[in-house]
Amino acid sequence: MTDTDAPVVPAASGPDPDWWRQATVYQVYPRSFADTDGDGLGNVAGVTEKVPYLAALGVDAVWLSPFYPSELADGGYDVADYRDVDPRLGTLEDFDAMVAAAHAAGLKVIVDIVPNHTSDQHVWFQEALAAGPGSAARARYVFRDGLGEDGATPPSTWQSNFGGSAWTRLTLPDGTPEQWYLHLFAPEQPDLDWSNPEVREDFHTTLRFWSDRGVDGFRVDVAHGLAKDLVEPLRDANPKDFGLPVDGSDPLYDRDEVHEIFEGWRRVFDEYDPPRTAVAEAWVARERVSLYARPTELGQAFNFELTRAPWDADAFRTIIESNLLLAAESGASSTWVLSNHDVVRHPSRYGLPDGADGGEADTDAWLLSGGTDPELDRDRWLRRARAATLLMLALPGSAYLYQGEELGLHEVAELRVEDLQDPVWTRSSHQRKGRDGSRVPLPWTPEAPAYGFSSTTAHLPQPAWFADVAASVQDGDPGSTLTFYRTALDARHRLQQGEELDWVDAGDPQVVHVARHEGWHSVTNFGTADVALPAGTVLVASGPLAEGVDGAARLPGETTVWLDPRG
Ligand code: GLC
Repeated sequence: MTDTDAPVVPAASGPDPDWWRQATVYQVYPRSFADTDGDGLGNVAGVTEKVPYLAALGVDAVWLSPFYPSELADGGYDVADYRDVDPRLGTLEDFDAMVAAAHAAGLKVIVDIVPNHTSDQHVWFQEALAAGPGSAARARYVFRDGLGEDGATPPSTWQSNFGGSAWTRLTLPDGTPEQWYLHLFAPEQPDLDWSNPEVREDFHTTLRFWSDRGVDGFRVDVAHGLAKDLVEPLRDANPKDFGLPVDGSDPLYDRDEVHEIFEGWRRVFDEYDPPRTAVAEAWVARERVSLYARPTELGQAFNFELTRAPWDADAFRTIIESNLLLAAESGASSTWVLSNHDVVRHPSRYGLPDGADGGEADTDAWLLSGGTDPELDRDRWLRRARAATLLMLALPGSAYLYQGEELGLHEVAELRVEDLQDPVWTRSSHQRKGRDGSRVPLPWTPEAPAYGFSSTTAHLPQPAWFADVAASVQDGDPGSTLTFYRTALDARHRLQQGEELDWVDAGDPQVVHVARHEGWHSVTNFGTADVALPAGTVLVASGPLAEGVDGAARLPGETTVWLDPRG
């Protein structure tokens, strides 16, 4: 064997290119995480301050929702400058210090990239407004003349995800109406035209900018929206996300051409060692999600099905089985999500009465009632949430956790409408209260004025019940949700090997029993009556066990245990 054909053996201590495959990733919503400068808005230094907390929690990576300069028309998902930090949240030096602290503690850092649209404050959009119809500056966005004799009809029937038309008409300073521009979200979020090479090139620059600063991966916002069919006449679109066709024929979402864009991104990721990772936010049909996760593209894609699943053994079984198969086909690992900044926190979803499926129609109505109609079943919500979390953490693939779920927070449904910040509230003509209830700043301690979040009042009002669930109150309490998360994440680290999952027939349709390997089984009782506990040593339990008449431990309803069946 000559030197040239010697097998390449990765250095034992070198960076692990596969760190993401089974990582637990903790999502930080920076403006609501921790505030160190007393303005009521969380900041980057707040994340740095909490690195020891995150490391002790036992997560592998932290994902930061946007922290870039923004007018906050959509909680920071309206980015005015992709290569800077919002001055209210800190500086690039603060960002570097945060990355250094995270890395020193063994945590990876993932940042959010928002490529579908910029803020209307972005220099490109400002140039487009000034440059006028037909200009190169307008060609970075989607400007069109209106229909009808006076151009007063929007160029198509396309609807914004937040409600209303996806088109807004410009008006000249003298009041003359002008062209329309496309925004699939708020009017302050104009859509980019990704057929423009300048747009593509600029995002490569942004990916390199953050990768050079040590960022380990990217969460890609609205990944399924970038490629659009803009051939005139503009065709009608389908209803949003899960109603999308599986053949890529919608003019706005999940078009086949989008994949070529992400192949370009992959080439940028692979310039680094280890390659930078990415996870796609793509609300598309189940069988199309894994296309974004191909190793030649983003590598991983969110599977959001558990955020919409009712508390039901069959629903969980189907979702787990199908997503593991699809991930295996694409070469990615699967992903699991119960909560994030866009959905009602999972304890609240599980507290809705039986028959409610936790979907948007149920939760929107409940939020509008201020969380009073229906009354949630408070005994049940946390029990179910913890059981679902422990099952999720037993699955092969990455688990994405949302800030505050380790405290067992439920949705702050009682927010007054005058305090709402989410554009969904106004854009839906007050039909949907929006997502602020999951974005209320975290309670770290029980004290006023902001439960340890800030030295002043938080930017979204925090409810009085936060005093009881603050991190410092739960710390060290063996029965607390925080202790439960720490125990489960620690056990997951110790137990996890390989990416296989076997189904064990529990002989009871309400029981989901899976085995990762011989020393690690997870058993969830979705029913309400207790059942026999399979033999073995209990490693972690989502709640107290029951005792049978013979004194033997039993698995109560709505509870998950991890077992070592050998001992
Ligand atoms: C994604 C984000 C959401 C945001 C939207 C528009 O869905 O998760 O918060 O409103 O994109 O950027």
